Amino acid sequence: MDNPAVNGKKIAAGKAIEYIKNGMTVGLGTGSTAYWAIQGIGEMVRNGLSVRAIATSIQSDQLARELNIPMVPFSEIDQLDVTIDGADEVDQQLNLIKGGGGALLREKIVASITKFYIIIVDESKVVKHLGQFPLPVEVAPFGWEIVDRRLRQMGAVPKMRMKDGQPYLTDNQHYILDCAFGEIKNPEKVHEEVSAITGVMEDGFFNNMANIVVVGSASGDTRILARP
Ligand code: 5RP
Repeated sequence: MDNPAVNGKKIAAGKAIEYIKNGMTVGLGTGSTAYWAIQGIGEMVRNGLSVRAIATSIQSDQLARELNIPMVPFSEIDQLDVTIDGADEVDQQLNLIKGGGGALLREKIVASITKFYIIIVDESKVVKHLGQFPLPVEVAPFGWEIVDRRLRQMGAVPKMRMKDGQPYLTDNQHYILDCAFGEIKNPEKVHEEVSAITGVMEDGFFNNMANIVVVGSASGDTRILARP
């Protein structure tokens, strides 16, 4: 495993799964960092841990089922004890940009019912200000052009996410506009404005949500950032 980012991701995931205890209900994130956490939880289940889980994407749900992690429907739970998920950017106040993997709406629903929300990243994701990573905005396909125009009026440069020559479709059959805003110094204000646009299903700001961020470094160290 020579790639430092991959190593950092795996190290962070390994530390985060230590927070999972017997009997907990657990949210499973999406992406290449969350992948390692799901693998780790799978191993803990193989070794006798009893948990129930909900996944933030079809992909993570499939992986969890392959690993025999017991999955539970929303109808059976009100709250999750812990969720472990990745992020595309983390600022100094632990505000996040997420959605690079297209799962932002499900991720935010899961985060919203989580008591202890753990974000796992490698060092490259920690930034001074959000915005170098374009903000993913999940939009209804109907009338998406109107949302695109509103976002441009706000000063963003939206770009339709594509896959195989077609607009990328989320697990919820929505489009994603990846929006370059430049440096974002006030994520709460920008989130308020973006989410007020009719047709926006969710944006990729996860402000004031993470309880801790576990940062993994390629050398094998972890550091834990806690929300001030
Ligand atoms: C998916 C996400 C991911 O957590 C985010 O994109 C980070 O991905 P990775 O761990 O692959 O770098 O928000 O919607």
